Amino acid sequence: MSTPENKAAWLTALKAYPLQVGPAPMPTPEAADVVIQVHSAALNPADPAMQQRGVVVKPEGYPYILGIDIAGIITAVGPKNTRFKLGGDRVTALAVPSLLGDAKYGGFQLYAVGDDRMIAKIPDRLSFNEASVLPLGLCTAAYSLFEKAALALDLPEPGGNAPNGKILLVWGGASSVGACAIQAAKAAGYTIAATASAKNFGLLREIGAEYVFDYNNAGIIDEIVATLKGKGELAGIFSAIIQPAPLAQCAAVAGQLEGRKHVGTVRPPGFPALDNWPEGVEISSCESTDIMSSEVGPAIWRKWLPVALEDGSMKCRPHYEVAGKGLEGVQGAVDLMSKGVSGKKLVVEIAH
Ligand SMILES: NC(=O)c1ccc[n+]([C@@H]2O[C@H](COP(=O)([O-])OP(=O)(O)OC[C@H]3O[C@@H](n4cnc5c(N)ncnc54)[C@H](OP(=O)(O)O)[C@@H]3O)[C@@H](O)[C@H]2O)c1
Repeated sequence: MSTPENKAAWLTALKAYPLQVGPAPMPTPEAADVVIQVHSAALNPADPAMQQRGVVVKPEGYPYILGIDIAGIITAVGPKNTRFKLGGDRVTALAVPSLLGDAKYGGFQLYAVGDDRMIAKIPDRLSFNEASVLPLGLCTAAYSLFEKAALALDLPEPGGNAPNGKILLVWGGASSVGACAIQAAKAAGYTIAATASAKNFGLLREIGAEYVFDYNNAGIIDEIVATLKGKGELAGIFSAIIQPAPLAQCAAVAGQLEGRKHVGTVRPPGFPALDNWPEGVEISSCESTDIMSSEVGPAIWRKWLPVALEDGSMKCRPHYEVAGKGLEGVQGAVDLMSKGVSGKKLVVEIAH
């Protein structure tokens, strides 16, 4: 049998275009890391943003490998890893080269190194395409919903928590982050209200939203307040949409409902303060990968997620759409992602 070789879609220099497909070192896993043969890689808004704006943590970071969401098969395990076995475990994983400072962790390659903290086994019935849609969306939602510095909601237990009667409003429920937030918060016992375009109401309902609202309606704030008033205490609002206008709408809703007046966001720390933010409404920022080193990471990735995927309560939504095949298809998918998506996740079938 021939020895497998690694290849990557390289970002060769700052803002280089297009990505160049070429050989990459075959990684050896250290400590508790693993090597994952990447079958599917999903796209995030961060991928075109990083290519176009040149966001790499280390100036010496080029050549660099983008790609954050992957699913595949474990092919090698580090000496300190006791969770995974060789050549069989099918997993979904967060690939975080920008955080871990090394291109070997990038997702757009045939064999990527995975950090044990952000990997979960997936059931046989789930395809790699399906499983690749979750990692960053789930990490981001988990930070804002469950970290103490953000909304600090109850964590979901395997099998799901009993309903607690409290309402969480998710703004942007058809986004990847929003769809994960709806499902994780529902599993934690919250009643979910969510916004999206009307064409995505079916998606919102399928993943557990009880109240759905079209954010394109001019009277949306009044509509949400009138619908939710008296239905239960507000546990908070999570906005998966980063722009100031929807965040202001979230604040306006929080100001008029009984309960916790806190808007959890996807704004990274250090973003400038928002103009005219109302007094009495808290707002928190989000550094999704921080859950790797807090209690939230293991509670979600190790304890809850594998069970929720197995029992079907966590669905791989939004649905994937194949936007490319092979490493050669990555640049086209990144370009498509830069145009934006509605209620779907773009995926490249890396091993096809
Ligand atoms: N801080 C962090 O660590 C971190 C990490 C990851 C992501 N993020 C950020 O999180 C955000 C979401 O990422 P994503 O991958 O989930 O995005 P996405 O899937 O690309 O979001 C697309 C969705 O956004 C919805 N949308 C757009 N404008 C809206 C509005 N005004 N109100 C409600 N929904 C609206 C659209 O809904 P309809 O189609 O229904 O109209 C569309 O389905 C991005 O800004 C991303 O940069 C931050």
